[in-house]
Amino acid sequence: MRYQPIQSSLFVKNRLNFGKEMQTNHIALLCSNDVQVTNADDSMGFAQNNDLFYLSGIDQEETILMLYPDAYKKEYREILFIKKTDEHIKIWEGDKLTKDNASQISDIVRVEWVEDFEKILQLIAFEADGFYLGHNEHIKRSTKEIETRQDRLINWCKLKYPLHAYNRAAKITRGLRQVKAQEEVTMIQRAADISIQGFERVLRSVKPGMMEYELEAELSYVFLKQGALRHAFKPIVASGGNACALHYNSNDGKCVDGEMILMDFGVCYGNYNSDTTRCFPVNGQFSKRQKEVYQAVLTCLEQGSKLLKPGVISAEYEEQMAKLVENELIGLGLLTKKDIAAQDPENPLYKKYFMHGTAHHIGLDVHDVGLYSRPFEAGMVLTCEPGIYIPEEGIGCRLENDYLITEDGITNLTAKMPIAIKDIERLMNN
Ligand code: GLY
Ligand code: MN
Ligand code: MN
Repeated sequence: MRYQPIQSSLFVKNRLNFGKEMQTNHIALLCSNDVQVTNADDSMGFAQNNDLFYLSGIDQEETILMLYPDAYKKEYREILFIKKTDEHIKIWEGDKLTKDNASQISDIVRVEWVEDFEKILQLIAFEADGFYLGHNEHIKRSTKEIETRQDRLINWCKLKYPLHAYNRAAKITRGLRQVKAQEEVTMIQRAADISIQGFERVLRSVKPGMMEYELEAELSYVFLKQGALRHAFKPIVASGGNACALHYNSNDGKCVDGEMILMDFGVCYGNYNSDTTRCFPVNGQFSKRQKEVYQAVLTCLEQGSKLLKPGVISAEYEEQMAKLVENELIGLGLLTKKDIAAQDPENPLYKKYFMHGTAHHIGLDVHDVGLYSRPFEAGMVLTCEPGIYIPEEGIGCRLENDYLITEDGITNLTAKMPIAIKDIERLMNN
């Protein structure tokens, strides 16, 4: 295993909380993601379904979790189905989880081979009134273009059990997952700590003329060396004007003397993620204008992150952050108070230079699931990521930290990642 195992008590607690939210006499079925194929027999690797991981800790393909808290027989209340392993499979694929391993990780007593799933479900299904099934509820990505294993399970289940009631497991997990347990904060902190080491290595390596992907390689080296599962997402390493394309990630440009680089990167450690952005000068010395823009964004981050506190609604917070950025844009000479007084409130002028949201939950997903109508509360972990993008000057600047909301404010999980101008310059010139 690449990461410090998580205590099974977390998964037990998560299943208990999930069960409390279920209607009586229902069965929940959660399944793992597919291993995505590329061509022939090659694959893009495996990333576990996060709801399944949250409820079981199982990080292996072809897994199904069945929860039936009201089952009349105890042995039907929790069943974990895993891919069958034997000596032959071991020769080709190495160690897969045994039933004992899976039981230890999840603290689920009954573990079966996944090939017996349909047969066992059939024994139980007609005692239940309905099902909870997993589904991707992301507002943009939950399309039907790619049929997922979850989609196939929904289709299969509805065909086989057409008169049962059907419910959304994700409605429950979104609510639960947005408040992190201490064990989860520890995992996110570990991801953040690895990111910090990666960033410090980049600062020591960067030189004019290097390619952006060479800096990506410095990150990859540290991440792999420290036991990260993978980058949390394809990192953005954008020098000069490339930083103004928000999702730039081809990382194939040259880092030219005099430019500033924007690097947005994260670590996935034990399925938990960090997400940070830093900017730094290619030659180790910010120009006067780069300093002005950088300092403006840093002020927004410092002031804006203080708004992340219990009771605040995400939409209110975004509004306050927009005001902060607007004020800095005036200071930078990009907007005037007069322009702002005359602007169309439906189409505010600051959006020309700052066009994205500033906070998202982070956890098992980088843009973690959550109900954004719910006010912030202690235990939530959110990013804060203001930015100012000026394509006509070839400058794009965003700064991003990860914050744990506490009863009385925030803890910055990325506090040790250098951010002050003098610290960045000092580290680059040492
Ligand atoms: N890296 C994506 C984001 O910052 O949200
Ligand atoms: Mn980011
Ligand atoms: Mn982010």
